[in-house]
Amino acid sequence: MGFSVKWRIAAVLSGVFGFVSLGSAQADPYRVGLMLPATGTYAALGTAIENGFRLYIDQREGKIGGRTIEIVTIDDESNPAKATDNINRLIKRDRVDAVVGTVHSGVAMAMVRAAQSTGTLLIIPNAGAAAFTGALCAPNIFRTSFTNWQPAYAMGVAAAERGAQTAVTISWRYASGEESANGFKEGFEKHGGKVIDQLYLPFPNVEFQPLLTRIASLRPDATYAFFAGGGAVKFVNDYGAAGLKDSIALYSPGFLTEGTLAGQGQAAQGLFSVMHYADGLDTPKDNAFRAAYQDAYGVVPDVYSVQGYDAAQLLAIGLEAVDGDTSRTESMYAAMSGATIDSPRGPFTLSRANNPVQTMYLRQVEGLENKVIGIATAALEDPAVGCRM
Ligand code: BEZ
Repeated sequence: MGFSVKWRIAAVLSGVFGFVSLGSAQADPYRVGLMLPATGTYAALGTAIENGFRLYIDQREGKIGGRTIEIVTIDDESNPAKATDNINRLIKRDRVDAVVGTVHSGVAMAMVRAAQSTGTLLIIPNAGAAAFTGALCAPNIFRTSFTNWQPAYAMGVAAAERGAQTAVTISWRYASGEESANGFKEGFEKHGGKVIDQLYLPFPNVEFQPLLTRIASLRPDATYAFFAGGGAVKFVNDYGAAGLKDSIALYSPGFLTEGTLAGQGQAAQGLFSVMHYADGLDTPKDNAFRAAYQDAYGVVPDVYSVQGYDAAQLLAIGLEAVDGDTSRTESMYAAMSGATIDSPRGPFTLSRANNPVQTMYLRQVEGLENKVIGIATAALEDPAVGCRM
């Protein structure tokens, strides 16, 4: 057989098999691993993220870019010690195409490392540690939530503008608690305030009493607190019971009163916070989202639900850009990075480090709502220190 005939046969075969294998890959389900807490102090946050994510997939009738979306879940318990095993199970045993997670930044660190070493697409729907879209930024790592600095810095500015001159910060001692406290300090002190002490307790400890006694003795104008989930419910109740609520203003990034108000009751009424979502935005997009969410789950959505919904929206933008052919990785990630996400929080873009550039709302608790009362900072972009993308 002459060279040219062999070449022609090989070309035809490779064309046929190439077409067959590409076709079948695109016909395969696209597998998403949801790694979120279903137990522990952050359990409610994990459930809300999963609900939001599933809502969008259900609205698309389970198919995006021609691919059926298959979801695999794992409870990470917000436990950093189990995180490497959990993420390896999803990527290596369950062979997921993408991972969405998680809430706790200590757990997310193992996920980011795994995404770096395997090239798996990772969408972070909460964890706010700066490094994920800073020094560890990568083309396959995206975030649909915030960096801890964003709401913290904006709250610091707003607290100073509201007239506080001195403040104490209190938070769990791990990356997010420390970054949040320091972000508040930066914004507050740049605008004339002074942070006179920074108090910490280990995650997920809720023995707040000794630290509340310390705050009472320091008598600052304001307290800035980073807690979320079950811990936030207890902190706000303890702050009220200690008699501090009326004498020392309690400020926070909105996690302190987000998804927690039913358990906080009177102790939360009137509290101010800053966050990238709020009740009462009253936009067509948010109204439609809230109605659909309530219809599906029988409860009102919160910021975590929005972050989960937007993780699914961002994934859909990528899958659609390549018609489900995820071997076209560069085109898929370019479409995601360059997107404007039509979020219930308001449209947002992604920074060069793939972190939301977004509006920070000033909110005040009224009944069971974190009502929007203004814009604290518009289009706030995290500085993405150390990102070389
Ligand atoms: C975090 O660990 O990054 C985090 C957890 C709960 C709320 C906000 C941030």
